[in-house]
Amino acid sequence: CGIVGYIGYREAYPIVIKGLKRLEYRGYDSAGIMLYDGNDVAISKTKGKVSDLEEKSKALSESKATIGMGHTRWATHGVPNDVNSHPHVSNSGNLVIIHNGIIENYEPLKKELIKRGYTFTSDTDTEVLVNLIEDVQKKDNLKIGKAVQVALNQVVGAYAICVFDKQKPDEIIVARLGSPLAIGLGENEFFIASDASPFIEYTSNAIYLEDEEMAIVRLHKPLKIRKIKDDSLVDPYVQELQMNLEQIEKGGYDHFMLKEIYEQPNVIKDTYRGRLLANQGIIQMAGVEDNIERFLNAQRILIIACGTSWHAGLVAEYVIEEFARIPVEVEYASEFRYRNPIINKEDVVIAISQSGETADTLAAIKLAKEKGAFVFGVCNVVGSSISRETHAGAYTHAGPEIGVASTKAFTTQITVLTMLALRLAKAKGTLSNSDFHRYLQELEVIPEKVAEALESNETAKEIAEKFKDASNCLYLGRGYNFPVALEGALKLKEISYIHAEGYPAAEMKHGPIALIDEQMPVVVIAPKQGHYDKVVSNIQEIKSRSGKIIAVVTKGDVQVKQLADHIIEIPETSDALSPLITTIPLQLLSYHIAVLRGCNVDQPRNLAKSVTVE
Ligand code: G6P
Repeated sequence: CGIVGYIGYREAYPIVIKGLKRLEYRGYDSAGIMLYDGNDVAISKTKGKVSDLEEKSKALSESKATIGMGHTRWATHGVPNDVNSHPHVSNSGNLVIIHNGIIENYEPLKKELIKRGYTFTSDTDTEVLVNLIEDVQKKDNLKIGKAVQVALNQVVGAYAICVFDKQKPDEIIVARLGSPLAIGLGENEFFIASDASPFIEYTSNAIYLEDEEMAIVRLHKPLKIRKIKDDSLVDPYVQELQMNLEQIEKGGYDHFMLKEIYEQPNVIKDTYRGRLLANQGIIQMAGVEDNIERFLNAQRILIIACGTSWHAGLVAEYVIEEFARIPVEVEYASEFRYRNPIINKEDVVIAISQSGETADTLAAIKLAKEKGAFVFGVCNVVGSSISRETHAGAYTHAGPEIGVASTKAFTTQITVLTMLALRLAKAKGTLSNSDFHRYLQELEVIPEKVAEALESNETAKEIAEKFKDASNCLYLGRGYNFPVALEGALKLKEISYIHAEGYPAAEMKHGPIALIDEQMPVVVIAPKQGHYDKVVSNIQEIKSRSGKIIAVVTKGDVQVKQLADHIIEIPETSDALSPLITTIPLQLLSYHIAVLRGCNVDQPRNLAKSVTVE
């Protein structure tokens, strides 16, 4: 989501609307605005884009209000509709909030507030937060800043918020944990936004709040920043902005794809937040808990998806069969729907889709439902068609993915599906206690390892320089890393237009080996865990045919290093979790090759982000 706020002497409406348009890349399923004109609060919100909001709030465009806040939403709880759009208002009507993020413990908080007489009109976690603040405020007769602080200390999750209190209309309270928030400093005016793009033409001085910090943005007063936890004061660090608009939207990266690749450590954490409690040995996902019997009674699991999501499905096949010992089949949705598939009532169908709108996947779901199967969705876009069509599901929480070539959606899909496999293994007792706990601990440190794998960026770039003119490329992997080979090849062909094929390493000798000569780059995924010795033999077969070997290896590897022309090192993790790490350098490699070839990385020719036709 994107948030914008203004408090000063200019008319707030145009500043907020223009700011929201610049933040639309962060999500655009609904939008809303609040204005305060010295007397009253006016709110307008709607499902749809900022342009729809503009249309709906025409009456407000004349407003002389000099305080305002706005929101462009990318749903995390509750489908995108008018009611779920931000801003949200507390029961008394005094407090108005906009929020970017997720409140994980909103359900128990909501129950408690309902007991205390609060009512809710939306399904959002945000409406819970604003009423929690009000409750805290009333209970102890606190000033709004203090009430926000006390309430935030009861909240688990991630947020960037702006809170406005009608009773204290010369200030806006802002706070951040996990979601970005910048404050632009003008003369007698302040700007608030998810990134600096909404205020770049007004001021080049900005403060970026750090996690667990809050500020009271008050007119004619110096800005005070405090730690949410212990109330200690923080010295504000004012940054001089030097970026242009487009760079800011992309967070300083040249392309959305690169930005999204780099977001992976954080979004994987978002994916397991509240679901993985490694120290307590707990793994839980609401959609799974509510339907655990369906999963446990399943004679088999059928996975349906397209493109990159299908590759995540293949990884899931390996992980679910290994951990939970349930037979899994993975199918292209487009094939499944047209071949009169055998589906039983006991079958569990898992549909994976980033967009939640892919036409073939949607049709396959409908077919599976008609035949009586229980259908579980793994989607990134909240409220999307697939998330509504499925019986239950788990969102990936990767945030909006703008680059057409999928990156962070893939790794978060794998994260969800691995958690599912572990959850089922726990219920079925198919993993030993010690293995179960070991995997939980390992999953918890995956974001750090992904961050470490991202350090291969420079190496990937150097290798890209060498192979940018290749016309073919082969990707090989075994076991858990066979789907990663397929995904690596898909990434390369999607964005660089180099023909690439992914293959199980051992199958190479049944065909692709005929293609290998000194021109042919072969990317081999060869981490220490897994079928290392077998892969080493495959590498030798390539080498003896003069192929150029680019190997992804575990840090400290000796054997493959001696054989390969180029190596990319990644941190060690267990075989089953390795796709989350081995994928990273392959994404970077494709990215750099495509950039060097002058391709349009974010919008490759002929492709679409969301394929709503069959
Ligand atoms: C398109 C996109 C791919 C994506 C595929 C499936 O081809 O370009 O990146 O993997 O659709 O999309 P879905 O939204 O269902 O995951």
